[in-house]
Amino acid sequence: WSGGMQLLETVVSTQEEAKRLAESGAPEGTAVFAEEQTGGRGRMGRKWHSPRGKGIWMSVVLRPKLPLLMTPQLTLLAGVAVCTAIRQVTGVQAGIKWPNDLLAGGRKICGILLESSLREGGLHYCIAGIGIAVNLTEEDYPDYLRGVGTSLLIQRGGIPVDRSELAGAVLTELEYLYNLYMEQGFKPIRELWESMSVTLGRQIALNTPQGRSEGLAVGLDDNGGLLLEDETGHITNVCSGEIEII
Ligand code: BTN
Repeated sequence: WSGGMQLLETVVSTQEEAKRLAESGAPEGTAVFAEEQTGGRGRMGRKWHSPRGKGIWMSVVLRPKLPLLMTPQLTLLAGVAVCTAIRQVTGVQAGIKWPNDLLAGGRKICGILLESSLREGGLHYCIAGIGIAVNLTEEDYPDYLRGVGTSLLIQRGGIPVDRSELAGAVLTELEYLYNLYMEQGFKPIRELWESMSVTLGRQIALNTPQGRSEGLAVGLDDNGGLLLEDETGHITNVCSGEIEII
């Protein structure tokens, strides 16, 4: 890994730590890891359960020269990086649910939160936050996550995973794919994403403030949005939100 690295004990959220570093000029690739987060954050204002020593709670500073509209592609890139690393190091056949949840055994094993900071109307930096449930046991999950979340240890029938080895593989994959993306654009990332997706070809329900819609997930658009086909053959792009595989 060519970026700098910080290993912290207890923090509120590695996102805030990475932001602080980015604001004070930390170079692209700076990565922050914490043993424990007391205020881990998920997408859509949700909490992210981050017990001590049980997971990989990390945030990486990125400084891509991209239009803001294209940042969802980075979210998909991060999903591909983590999915590849998990499969390689642990043998768990994780899959990606659009846009960036990693599932194993039908349950969530990893979440990704990409946050962008703007300056003078353009992108200033991004923080890619990655949370991987590595060695949590069923007892480590609070009631609201039972049946929803799982861990690599649970998926391996109780065999723990070396967190350093997995974290190293995540960084290696992230760096490789990020360089590939900068050289060749979104196409190779999109192809990898599609090959790891558990969403494409499935009937999907989408809940938005405007209501619920359903359709068949048929592909990704150029910005990483999901293409949904309704029963009349009409295709719409979904750029954000929470989907349900039905
Ligand atoms: C989600 O699926 O909702 C995204 C979860 C992202 C969690 C990670 S853990 C490291 C980083 N710090 C945070 O507070 N959140 C992200």
